[in-house]
Amino acid sequence: MSKRISISDLLDAHQTGRRFAVVSCYDYTTAKLVAEAGIEVLLVGDSAAQVILGHDSTLPITMDFMVAITDAVRRAAPEACLVADMPFLSYHTSVADAVKNAGRFFQEAGAQVVKIECTAAHLDIIRAVSDAGMAVMAHIGIRPQRVAKLGRLRAEGVTAEHAIELIELARKCVDAGADMLLVEGTAREVAAVITKESPVPVISCGSGPDCDAQVLIISDILGLSSAPKPKFAKSFAQLDAIIHGALRDYASQVRSGQFPADELCYHMKPGQLEALNRMLGQ
Ligand code: KIV
Repeated sequence: MSKRISISDLLDAHQTGRRFAVVSCYDYTTAKLVAEAGIEVLLVGDSAAQVILGHDSTLPITMDFMVAITDAVRRAAPEACLVADMPFLSYHTSVADAVKNAGRFFQEAGAQVVKIECTAAHLDIIRAVSDAGMAVMAHIGIRPQRVAKLGRLRAEGVTAEHAIELIELARKCVDAGADMLLVEGTAREVAAVITKESPVPVISCGSGPDCDAQVLIISDILGLSSAPKPKFAKSFAQLDAIIHGALRDYASQVRSGQFPADELCYHMKPGQLEALNRMLGQ
């Protein structure tokens, strides 16, 4: 059995100042490429609602869908640390629902960590999930599941007053049992303070380079879409142009009859065509 990167490996990276990479991805084929590139942590994010299902927010995605795609990513990446994102309403209705839904990711999909978007109202949930023996990544800063209430998402911690609130929330999440923090869309200076004082690994999603790790969404890294994306979402390739080119070539070869060439066809065994023609009376 292969050895998977564990929470303690990531804690060790934090303690020894070794940075690691995290990618949010959602399907077997892509996750296999991500794992083969040596990415340490694969997050199955609820951004799948937008990237895979085409919704305009993360809210519509369900537990069943998230469990199924987390299981697919685990099969593709047996050695990476696997984090599953708790979707909207999977932990808001009660502490018992939160523990039960978190447990589904461990039992049905083999996740090692669940990510929970946190306000101070969710500290009891972190505690309960952690007390049940499951590792938790507390997601603070911009929390996309709040979009329906806030109307829009904008950078967090840009004033000293708000920065203190975030730093205190980070401390409370760790006190409640969080094993990792994910800090999204905050001023770089705030993420730096949180990382410096944190006893657990801190992952930045658009919160600057001073954290232990960075996370980006696979479609942004690969440049799969020309849709507007956040300021921090750097593309390291522009694969949309390459994919468009391949698809145009395919369609043009289908239309011209050039594809499929004879070497791509199956053929009848020797003598069988003649036999068939006799049966057909030809
Ligand atoms: O859903 C997601 O992919 C995320 C990351 C962008 C942090 O939450």
